[in-house]
Amino acid sequence: MALVARTRRADLVLRGTGTLMSRCLAGGLPVASACSGRGACAKCLVTVLEGAAHLTPPRPHESRTLGRNGAGPGQRLSCQCRVTDPSVTVVVTTGYW
Ligand code: FES
Repeated sequence: MALVARTRRADLVLRGTGTLMSRCLAGGLPVASACSGRGACAKCLVTVLEGAAHLTPPRPHESRTLGRNGAGPGQRLSCQCRVTDPSVTVVVTTGYW
């Protein structure tokens, strides 16, 4: 198990590779976006509940967007990060799932 989306109804295992955003979309979960995944809008923000150390670290562009949008601890742009180790579990959620 590598990526799990925690929703109000259940935890969903999101298979495949790619960014968190692409995996959520492929798994049928909506992800807000106003910049088509370019890391500019912060609409795709997710909160990482477990396994944050196993995500790619924020690049400067993501860090700037997170800071500009007042993101809190544990929040990432789902369009900008990936799971680095498929053998661990990373759990993410949003306010609208
Ligand atoms: S979709 Fe715009 S920052 Fe991720």
